[in-house]
Parts: sequence; structure tokens; C-alpha cells
Amino acid sequence: MQQNNVRPETMARITTPELAAAFIEEQVREIRAQVGDKQVLLALSGGVDSSVVAALLIKAIGKQLVCVHVNHGLMRKGESEQVIEVFRNGLDANLIYVDATDRFLDLLAGEADPEKKRKIIGNEFIKVFDEEAGKLSGISFLAQGTIYPDILESHGVKAHHNVGGLPEDMEMELVEPLKLLYKDEVRVVGKALGLPDEMVFRQPFPGPGLGVRCLGAITRDRLHALREADAILREEFDKCGLAGKVWQYFVAVPDFKSVGVRDNKRYEGWPAIIRAVNTVDAMTATIEEIPYAVLHRITDRITHEVEGINRVLLDLTPKPIGTIEWE
Ligand code: XMP
Repeated sequence: MQQNNVRPETMARITTPELAAAFIEEQVREIRAQVGDKQVLLALSGGVDSSVVAALLIKAIGKQLVCVHVNHGLMRKGESEQVIEVFRNGLDANLIYVDATDRFLDLLAGEADPEKKRKIIGNEFIKVFDEEAGKLSGISFLAQGTIYPDILESHGVKAHHNVGGLPEDMEMELVEPLKLLYKDEVRVVGKALGLPDEMVFRQPFPGPGLGVRCLGAITRDRLHALREADAILREEFDKCGLAGKVWQYFVAVPDFKSVGVRDNKRYEGWPAIIRAVNTVDAMTATIEEIPYAVLHRITDRITHEVEGINRVLLDLTPKPIGTIEWE
């Protein structure tokens, strides 16, 4: 088991490719020494931490690592596809892809309470992962993308955030090569491992994914509209350079419609709410100014290209008083 959960004061902050290379070399040695010829299981969400752990373990032990990517149907557009592309096709990983969309959406149907939605998603995630683990034999280790702030905060306010939390009764030894690193160091290591920028500089994405942005009881048509509108927002932020300046930005779609006109006919649709915030630690957040020209272009594209959406709104609320997410 892991003993060393305190970052030594002498440990240099990993800020350069050279320091990252040294860290990688040391970890490859340690991982090989820890796991020998045994197999290691990893829940690969596609987030920064689990992706960097996966790349590091693939470098150290290749196909002894078994990655399981559970698509809960609440991913952003293209994200599960990217996991498959980067890890299965690019790094030749041993990757099990589970499309559990129907299971999650069926369970969530009709549930409007945010905490209950989170619970359903968290519990079902564990169930699906558990089932996949049960199909494999000879797995002795469980890898996790734990990073240093997780250790520091594990008794604090963010505990509920680790939706990918795994069953405690899994009898596997943990492999946590990033547990002494801060987020910025994880990104430097990820880059040194050759992961694409979209993955290494990915925005924080809540474990329950679009589930907390498709407000109230999730329906498939509104979830689809949200995913498309969110993809347009990301595309336009990429094009105008805001993507590199804004910490987190996304669309939320509430569960009500307003009256509009499309093709000279009455057209009832949902509003798409844009939220773009800057923060250091997600405890407080300020609002990023978006040029009106960009807002007009995004509004034009979303209202014309996304079925079901007929208005675009901008959320100007800092945290506090609003949380970053709407649910
Ligand atoms: P809030 O909404 O609390 O969010 O201001 C702060 C940061 O945490 C993310 N967040 C979550 N991440 N599971 C996660 O893994 C969750 O349930 C969850 N809820 C919020 C949010 O996106 C923001 O970056």
C-alpha cells in the first residue's frame, strides 16, 4: 500500500520537459518494481489526471495495463471518441470501451433533483466498472489519477466531487504515480508523454458530466441539444483565442421553453445559457468578458444549427453567489 503521502519539501516543482522526463523515468522504474508482471486496472475518464496516469503506465508496462472507459452518455461531444483515438489507436492501449449510455439515461429518466442525479450517476458508474472488473481475471492492482490536492482536500469540501470514486471493497493494491503532483505538473508530464494538447489542457469537467448541465430531469432530445450547443461554444472560443484565456466555459440548458419564430412559424425552444468563468482554485470565480461580436456569432450559430434551441443567454454571476455549475 501507499505510505508516502506527503510531498517532500526538497521536491522540485516540475516545470520543464527535462524535469518531466526525469520524473517519468523514475516513475517507470517504480511502477515496474511495484507491479512486476501483474496486471493493472484503470478507470480512464479522459480527464487530465486519468489520461496522464494511463500514458505513464502504458510506457512502463504496456499491455499489462487494462483501461476501462465508461461512456455514461453524458460526455461532451467527441470526448469518448478522443479517448479511443488517443489510447487505442495512438498508444495501442489495452482499452475496454463500454457504452453504458442507455443504462444511465434510463435510470436518470424523470429524476429532477440534482443530488439524486449525482448519486445515480456515481453509483451506476461504480456498478458498470465493477462488472467490467469482474469479467477480468488476474488483476492485482488498481491505478488511480489521484493528485496532491486530492490528498490535501480529501477531508474537505470537494470530497463529493470524486464521482469516479471506486468501490472500497475492491481488493487491489493502489498504483498512484501522480499523488505528489500539483495539476500544473501533471500537465507538464502529460505533454512530455506526448498526449495531445486538447487532453493535457482540458477544462475541468465534472464527473457527472453534462448531467449537471442538462438541468432538471434529463431527456435525450434536450441532452443532444446541450451537447451540440456546447460544442459550438467550444469551437468559437477556440477560434477567437478565448479558449486559452478562460478557465472553464460551457453551456447549460434548463427544462423550460419559450416562444420564438423560425421559418415564419411559431417555434418553441429551450434557452442555451453560456457560462464562462475564471478562477484559481474553483472556490471563487469571476466572469470573463466575451466580446459582443463573439456572443452574436455564437448566438447565431446555436439558434440556427441546434434543433430545439431558440434563445441564447449569458450568465454574469460570479461565485459566490452562483456556484460554477448550475446544479
Ligand atoms: P461548483 O459548481 O461547486 O464547481 O462551483 C467547482 C468546480 O468543481 C466542478 N464540479 C464537479 N467536479 N464532480 C466533479 O468531478 C462533481 O460532481 C462536480 N460538481 C462541480 C465544477 O465543474 C467546477 O470546476
